[in-house]
Amino acid sequence: MQENQEKFIDLINKKISGKNLKYSILTMGCQLNENDSEKIAGMLEKMGYSEISDYKNADLVIFNTCCVRENAEERLFGKIGEIKKLKESRDTILAIGGCMMQEKGMLQKIKKSYSFVDVIFGTHTMQNLPEDIYKSLINKEKVKDVIDIDGEIYEGLPIKRNDKFKASVTIMYGCNNFCTYCIVPYVRGRERSRKPEKILEEVKQLAEEGYKEITLLGQNVNSYVGNGEIKNFADLLNEVCRIDGIERIRFISPHPKDFTDDVIDAIANNEKICKIIHLPLQSGNSKVLKSMNRKYTKEQYLNLVNKMQEKIPGVVLSTDIIVGFPEETDEEFEDTLDVVRKVNFEQIFMFIYSIREGTVASEMEQIPEDKKHERFEKLKKLYESRVDENNEKYLNTVQKLLIEGTSKNNHEMFEGRTDTNKVVIFKPNEENQIGDIVSVKITEAHKWYLKGEIVK
Ligand code: SAH
Ligand code: SF4
Ligand code: F3S
Repeated sequence: MQENQEKFIDLINKKISGKNLKYSILTMGCQLNENDSEKIAGMLEKMGYSEISDYKNADLVIFNTCCVRENAEERLFGKIGEIKKLKESRDTILAIGGCMMQEKGMLQKIKKSYSFVDVIFGTHTMQNLPEDIYKSLINKEKVKDVIDIDGEIYEGLPIKRNDKFKASVTIMYGCNNFCTYCIVPYVRGRERSRKPEKILEEVKQLAEEGYKEITLLGQNVNSYVGNGEIKNFADLLNEVCRIDGIERIRFISPHPKDFTDDVIDAIANNEKICKIIHLPLQSGNSKVLKSMNRKYTKEQYLNLVNKMQEKIPGVVLSTDIIVGFPEETDEEFEDTLDVVRKVNFEQIFMFIYSIREGTVASEMEQIPEDKKHERFEKLKKLYESRVDENNEKYLNTVQKLLIEGTSKNNHEMFEGRTDTNKVVIFKPNEENQIGDIVSVKITEAHKWYLKGEIVK
């Protein structure tokens, strides 16, 4: 398999060398999707393409799609239309991959309405991209390379990372949970964990390259299954913490139902693990949670939060919430607001329920659109009313920041993030460099950022 990939990378490289061909990738999905895009970029660079951000000037355009919510389709089809015009003027190759290509009926739809698309590839066949592009570039074939069965985990893809100090490491693929609203298990297949030694090898390599922060990725990271000494997610966390050079560790997303005590202990015992935990709530009502198939109740969620707060000093939480799930009543929605008041989340990603064909919830009785929007606004208002208070907690505290770059609005200032993911702007001293971890005292709290001063 790997030999095949290398063969096509070389063949393309020979064909296009000296031509200065450009590629552009549009990533439409979550962090896993982004990590896949980094691997796609890694393959393309090896083939001899170089990156250009404006896809209108690219010779090869890749769309890496997402389908977790409905509006993604309209967005994609709009973009495909734009590329059609480009193809007429400069012979651009258009390749579309990612989760949406795994959706039932999607291949036929694109074939029928957008027959000019050159390559369609799925989430299980990403590693064939060099061969697929070769067929399109050299043989002028229209390529469809999507399979339904879960692919084997494919190790050793080249990778071109977006950042120099922060990196993502996928630890598992797929999902077994089948939350009734969610399409991910249908398009990403069943859970498959990477071998612990492969993950640790990747993290060690990153440390050698100077990376300071890593994020372990998966749809349900705490159901990770390892082997030997590293049996589960807690073991993996502890082991990753032992790698010198890596100073910050994040993970996303854990599932509340699998948040075992050993994971809480690992977070509490390791200074390197960031003290912000993303704990998707989805709904605060036990009946709605049951019909979402989330496998926890309101009380169990709140108990878990209490336990975390007791065992992990200074822990803060972020979450995902869906409003307007089928059959949700106003009263049931109040429970969501109640949990938000009680937990005081640092960050909430709010979503209006969106029907995904083929899921259980799509067959249930739907809520009128205006009702969903009304609830969304209510939740947003509650969340925003808490932001100031949450930010003011930081005043006069000393925070460790990873310096990420100069501030966009003021080039004399640097910008970094606390381990709880807050953006902080500060005036650097001569020694400070991007990628350093520094201590900063917070002096001002604004709505979407904090200001601070370097402390020696
Ligand atoms: N595996 C992660 C989430 C992946 S999808 C987890 O379980 O937390 C990211 C978020 O999208 C979900 O947490 C959910 O809040 C939201 N989402 C998923 N399906 C959705 C749908 N049909 N409508 C609206 N939001 C949805
Ligand atoms: Fe979707 Fe639920 Fe799996 Fe998350 S855990 S990806 S929400 S099915
Ligand atoms: Fe991610 Fe969207 Fe796929 S959320 S896993 S890119 S459907």
